[in-house]
Amino acid sequence: MANVVEQLKHLFMPKSVAVIGASRHPGKIGHEILRNLIEYGFEGKIYPINPTAEEILGLKVYPSILDVPDEVDLAVISIPAHKVPHVLEECGVKGVKTTAIISSGFGEIGNVELEREVLDIARKYGIRILGPNIIGVVYTPSKLNASFGPRDVVKGNIAFLSQSGALGIALMGWTITEEIGLSAVVSLGNKIDIDDADLLEFFYEDENTRVITIYMEGLRDGRKFMKVAAKVTKKKPVIVLKSGRSERGAKAAASHTGSLAGADRIFDAAFKQSGVLRAITFEDMFDWARALATQPPVRMNEAVIITNGGGAGVMATDAAEEYGVNLLEPSPKLIETFRKYMPEFGSPKNPVDLTGQADAKSYYGAVKAAFESEEVGAIIVLYCRTAVLDPMDMAKAVMDAVKDAKEEGYVKPIVVNLLGGEDTIKASKELNRKGIPSYPIPERAVKTLGAMIKWSKWAGYLK
Ligand code: COA
Repeated sequence: MANVVEQLKHLFMPKSVAVIGASRHPGKIGHEILRNLIEYGFEGKIYPINPTAEEILGLKVYPSILDVPDEVDLAVISIPAHKVPHVLEECGVKGVKTTAIISSGFGEIGNVELEREVLDIARKYGIRILGPNIIGVVYTPSKLNASFGPRDVVKGNIAFLSQSGALGIALMGWTITEEIGLSAVVSLGNKIDIDDADLLEFFYEDENTRVITIYMEGLRDGRKFMKVAAKVTKKKPVIVLKSGRSERGAKAAASHTGSLAGADRIFDAAFKQSGVLRAITFEDMFDWARALATQPPVRMNEAVIITNGGGAGVMATDAAEEYGVNLLEPSPKLIETFRKYMPEFGSPKNPVDLTGQADAKSYYGAVKAAFESEEVGAIIVLYCRTAVLDPMDMAKAVMDAVKDAKEEGYVKPIVVNLLGGEDTIKASKELNRKGIPSYPIPERAVKTLGAMIKWSKWAGYLK
């Protein structure tokens, strides 16, 4: 069998894409996929296929894939399910390498025969299939948006795989608002051919991807997934949100994508054994992904909390215990260093409380000192909105400290929390844009560091 990574390059980095069922009518799926392809800026060739149209969105239309005067790497198929076998047969004759079958109406509604027929044709010609029953595929480094989801996917290095199409679309939109940078969005649907494990193999090698996130309802081949995941997670974090944890949830998953959800504790054990981080909510999944995609591994589980609010410091301390984050007992020397950046009534122990009168210089000094100290393995910075220090100035102080520390060769993970109103959200976004993960409540920052510690241990960075 051909190497799966090489095969999937045709899916993610195609030189040419055909849209079979490209519609003339705006609002129809086949039209919107074509529009996304064009408007997201795909630089390869695009071939709309439709037997009854001549030109759509300014592109020449071909009646059949067999009429395209060029090789086709990827065919996106968006015609009713019963017509799929015929066009897939044509794709085979044409030598198309991969297909993404958007159409619903297969195994998920009991049409297993049709699914079988499609798979047999694909095997006969050596075509790989993504789907069916999917929203499509996005790969930002190729400027490829072959989906009917939102257009302006933010470029980054997190791959997002989703078994559910609608959730995939919804979360694509959410990642745009939250400015979470993605390398790929892959809708898996009924997974009759390409599955999670195949995609893990691809993203393991893909230099544009640092973290892989998966929304999963079930697996057809659990052993295959575990085996590949155990390899991939040593190099890149894999975060899975597996739904169907409750008995009723599992039944709902079965009727949604035909998944046999299985006993949840079996999945839980399998994820642990293969180094997969299990998230319970989307918030966790993307919180962790954001940090794991930007921060270095944790090499020492000795964290320091730097705050201007005692209360936030206590909350973070409680969370640290809950999420496996060790808080450093600073040496007398480090305590004296921190003391320089606070008034007399501040607390230089851990949490390092700069007090409510902390200004940008206090934050810069304390954060920089934490980077420079050999005792500190990870840094948690908290800020409560005060009238003394504008959130954007605080964010800038942290950015400067991180930048200067980096220039001097100090690299360690940092997570930030800005607690307050509208202007703290803006400052938080600015930090995220600069690759410093920032969260609206202390617990999310600490929980994220906990996940980073878990992965760093698994991957061997941390004893
Ligand atoms: N080759 C190429 N084009 C063909 C064709 C063929 N063999 N047969 C028909 N077409 C054209 C049609 O003429 C039409 O173009 P037009 O609108 O310009 O006339 C276009 O392809 C689409 O075909 P149509 O029959 O109108 O289908 P549709 O757009 O109503 O539905 C699907 C097609 C795939 C969208 C629909 O069957 C479906 O499965 N919808 C659900 C998809 C979904 O939600 N997936 C994700 C699940 S999370």
